[in-house]
Amino acid sequence: MQIDILTLFPGMFQGPFETGIFQRAIGRKLVSVNLHNIRDYTHDKHHTVDDYAYGGGAGMVLKPEPVFEAVASIKSGIHLAEKGGELPVILLTPQGRLFSEEIALKLSRYRHLILICGRYEGVDERVAEHLATDEISIGDYVLGGGELAAMVVVDAVVRLLPGVLGSEASPLDDSHSNWLLEYPQYTRPAAYREWPVPEILLSGDHARIAKWRRQQAIIRTLQRRPELLDKAELTAEERRLVDRLLTAPDNKRI
Ligand code: 6GU
Repeated sequence: MQIDILTLFPGMFQGPFETGIFQRAIGRKLVSVNLHNIRDYTHDKHHTVDDYAYGGGAGMVLKPEPVFEAVASIKSGIHLAEKGGELPVILLTPQGRLFSEEIALKLSRYRHLILICGRYEGVDERVAEHLATDEISIGDYVLGGGELAAMVVVDAVVRLLPGVLGSEASPLDDSHSNWLLEYPQYTRPAAYREWPVPEILLSGDHARIAKWRRQQAIIRTLQRRPELLDKAELTAEERRLVDRLLTAPDNKRI
């Protein structure tokens, strides 16, 4: 997968892409991330990327021309044969649709992604209207710009690419891939201070452990993110467990 990121602050991306799963994925040529400074696509002496908002108001707005030019330049470097149909151009903005594991999975199936990081008080609306194919937000809070959001999207997508995670680790077990939060995990020591690891995990009974984990995932999801359970695929027995917990006087203690 090739990911092209348009930003006014390419330096912000240096740490994250040089460590952990990125380093490995890039090293194995499973993904290449190219950073493009929007300022490099200006033509005036001062490399102007922003301007006052029509209609007034505080704050500057990112101009459309350098953004359109940068995307055109990136697209021209991608061979037609490789395009394989669609090439998503994603604007990171608090006005976008809320990012999710489902969106990450869909994005992971493209050969190329172009991400545009918004900045300042906004981006000229013509970028959203006539250039971007999608607008994504990572949550209901405001960031100084789309850069951190782009890193979040790239992280979530890259770890889903085949071969990026170790062979045994499956992203399908993780929280959110099945609309359940993950079960609690423990490692040695078996007793730390006065807090022992749940005994069942030491039993070696893999079937009982699997059932316990599944129940813990359901209980945890019910307590913390009950709205997710509507989408989870539960067996009839598991639905009964949920009903029992819902009618229990204090489901936190079960
Ligand atoms: Cl994509 N951009 C900004 N500036 N703030 C955000 C966001 C994006 N997603 C959540 N907050």
